[in-house]
Amino acid sequence: MPEFHLFPDAASVSATQYDYLWWYLVAVSIVMTAVIFAGVFFFAIKYRRRSENEIPKPIEGSRLLEISWSVIPFLVMLTFFFWGAALYFRNQNPPADAMNVYVVAKQWMWKVQYPNGVREINELHIPVGRAVRLTMASEDVIHSFFVPAFRLKRDVVPGRYNDMWFTATKPGRYHLFCAEYCGTEHSGMIGWVTVMEKRDFENWLATGGAEGSMASQGQKIFQQMGCSSCHLFDEQGRCPNLKGMYGSRVLLSDGRTVVADAAYIREKILNPSATIPFGFQKDIMPTFQGQVSEEDILELTEYIKSLAETRGGMFTSEQTGPTAGGGRGGSIANAGQGSLDTHGTSMTNQPPRPEANAQAQDAAQPVAPKPAAPGGKQ
Ligand code: CUA
Repeated sequence: MPEFHLFPDAASVSATQYDYLWWYLVAVSIVMTAVIFAGVFFFAIKYRRRSENEIPKPIEGSRLLEISWSVIPFLVMLTFFFWGAALYFRNQNPPADAMNVYVVAKQWMWKVQYPNGVREINELHIPVGRAVRLTMASEDVIHSFFVPAFRLKRDVVPGRYNDMWFTATKPGRYHLFCAEYCGTEHSGMIGWVTVMEKRDFENWLATGGAEGSMASQGQKIFQQMGCSSCHLFDEQGRCPNLKGMYGSRVLLSDGRTVVADAAYIREKILNPSATIPFGFQKDIMPTFQGQVSEEDILELTEYIKSLAETRGGMFTSEQTGPTAGGGRGGSIANAGQGSLDTHGTSMTNQPPRPEANAQAQDAAQPVAPKPAAPGGKQ
């Protein structure tokens, strides 16, 4: 017989926090219910009718009593609001050093891609104890990414990115559900989140993507689509120089400034004339709506991000992975790969622990990444 669990595992920092809030809600509800029912029974007995012709005394009312039974519950309810809002805001703001993973939902699967190019379907591997940020897009309808063990659920909506972030606290395998009815096979749109020890995760991730890093794939699309003929890497192009643009503030022709983040780049690719950067002309750039998939856009974004890192001093000419090609493409691919390793000490600097390696082997075996010809599965 399967074990019965009243609660799913609590495997993330937010899971514990939401559970405390939930228990607080339950406790307050029990206390309020008890007080109300005790009052009902007490007064029903105390003021019961004692004889057939008894006429009760008129009651004048008490302002103090009325104000206190309004204000006290109001203040108690406000604690729900402030506690919930604090958690909500925390969950809206991923820390800057969070590891980025991209999720594209489509009927009926979750496609996951890491910046170094590793792809998975219906699986998400993450390290324990490190903030992970998911940038999520949908290719068709509304889906919802739900991990009960993390107590987190976020809709994945076509036409925009939705972010979600969490820090897993416990290695293990946890259910991933689609929590928004999205068609016939909605109930089959399920998967697993595997939380691994940091070292195991790095070993797992280091197997690399069969097709190169997202940045290098993005660079290919950048050239195929002809972006490179207008976006030159100097100030001569008819379109903005994208080097160093990612994450910077862009002045628009209408006087506003926006941060050049993933959503901005997505909008520029699909609807370029929505906003025009200051000093550039309208209608120079065509829309690429229908020509690029959500995954292509994410790869282009990683490429543009890698250009920013090149300028920002994170450029590295070391051969960090099997994906490095020759010439400019290779170095940019490396920059993209390097960006994954921003979490402090590199594992190559540490002496190997034999037991950890054995664990890594064990852990790596069953979860070896599917090098995932997603083309074949679509
Ligand atoms: Cu996707 Cu339900």
